[in-house]
Amino acid sequence: MATTDCRGVPLSTDNPALAAALDTALDEALAFEGDPVARIDAVLAEHPDFVMGHCFKVGMLTQAMETRMYDAMVASVEAAEALDAQANDRERGHTAAVRAWIDGDFHAAVQCWEDVLVHYPFDLLALSLVHLTDVLLGDIVGQRDSVARVFPLWDESVPGYAFVLGFYSFGLEENRDFFRAEETGRMALAMRPSHPYAIHAVAHVMEMQGRQLGGIQFMNERRAVWADGHFRNHLWWHLSLFHLDLGRTGEVLDIYDQNLRSDGVSGDKYEELDSAALLWRLKLVNADVGSRWRELADKWERSAEDTLYAFNDVHAMMAFVGDGRDEAQRRLLTANERYLEHAGDANVAMSREMGLPFCRALQAFADERYEACVAELLPARYRTHRLGGSHAQRDIIAWTLLEAALRSGQGDLALALANERCQLKPSSPLNWKLVARAHELRGDTDRAKQAYARAESPLAA
Ligand SMILES: [Fe+2]
Repeated sequence: MATTDCRGVPLSTDNPALAAALDTALDEALAFEGDPVARIDAVLAEHPDFVMGHCFKVGMLTQAMETRMYDAMVASVEAAEALDAQANDRERGHTAAVRAWIDGDFHAAVQCWEDVLVHYPFDLLALSLVHLTDVLLGDIVGQRDSVARVFPLWDESVPGYAFVLGFYSFGLEENRDFFRAEETGRMALAMRPSHPYAIHAVAHVMEMQGRQLGGIQFMNERRAVWADGHFRNHLWWHLSLFHLDLGRTGEVLDIYDQNLRSDGVSGDKYEELDSAALLWRLKLVNADVGSRWRELADKWERSAEDTLYAFNDVHAMMAFVGDGRDEAQRRLLTANERYLEHAGDANVAMSREMGLPFCRALQAFADERYEACVAELLPARYRTHRLGGSHAQRDIIAWTLLEAALRSGQGDLALALANERCQLKPSSPLNWKLVARAHELRGDTDRAKQAYARAESPLAA
């Protein structure tokens, strides 16, 4: 007789040990602990006809957004498809999703997982893949409403509720519903204090609201529970942002060196994204980062021509530009231009609309062709979400644009952009300094002085 997972979601297997392994693996994955794929690989070695085992494995691998995963993904999708006759409806939905993914139609994959979730609202795997893929693809509303559709059905009696609260918290935050986001994130933490995604969601709220000192305290108080998990790099990056906003570049460099500057080639793109994103921000404040770009660019070299995910490509470009690697920049741009001519997958639109313009803008910025940088980014600045990631991550685009406007002497434009930025986060000393520089550029020394004065207070507004 077929069994279910711990939330009552049906599995075609009649072996409760397989269901238990899947429950454990999903818990590990969502807690950023252990090696859930290895756990399921071991199960599949003994039970190759475990359909959800294959679907789980591919689902996890999709989130890496790396071409080096593709052989394993294809093998697992084919294994799941070969078991179609014994699979149940839910498992067929998951199989269709991962097939769409490896065929390059990420949006169709999300739709398949959503269809599963409509019929099986306690399918935590489907929920997590819809939500997390919406983040990867920049579907801001989807990040919230994929959770909202099932949220009222969940409560403390359902295993994994804290994870659902964590997802919902982040979705609410990205839609600027900060109060509910923080409340929901803190509920998740009350239930599961070590939940990195909920810590992350609350950190995002604090980042967006410019609560730098509170954010530093919040992160440091919980450091013992996040600093060893798989999400640690991104959480160090978040802690760095609070320091950066306060102008504490020394602290940021310390965090980079002690926690983000991993030796050798780790092979984990997500870690390298955070490192590139932090070094570029340091470049925008003219901090001397020494040889750090060189080490990071070495890690990105092997994926210069991936063209799998525009979000990766722009971070690779930051590293190549940061280290002055002309050849790698050329390879990346040529690969992307060729890819756009021939490909038809979901990443084409992301690359065309945001990826390539931002890559060219980064190159122009590093070459001190600031007007060209502005020309690339100005028309694109309100569609940056098409690149995927979070508001906090994509802020690097608006900041680069503003810095280029300042450095190209376009005072009126710089002031407009700085005002826009400062109104969104008026408690940011960094933002007030940008406003002050724009006034200076326009020769308005009184307003520049006032803006600098506001930047001096940790609670700038
Ligand atoms: Fe984040």
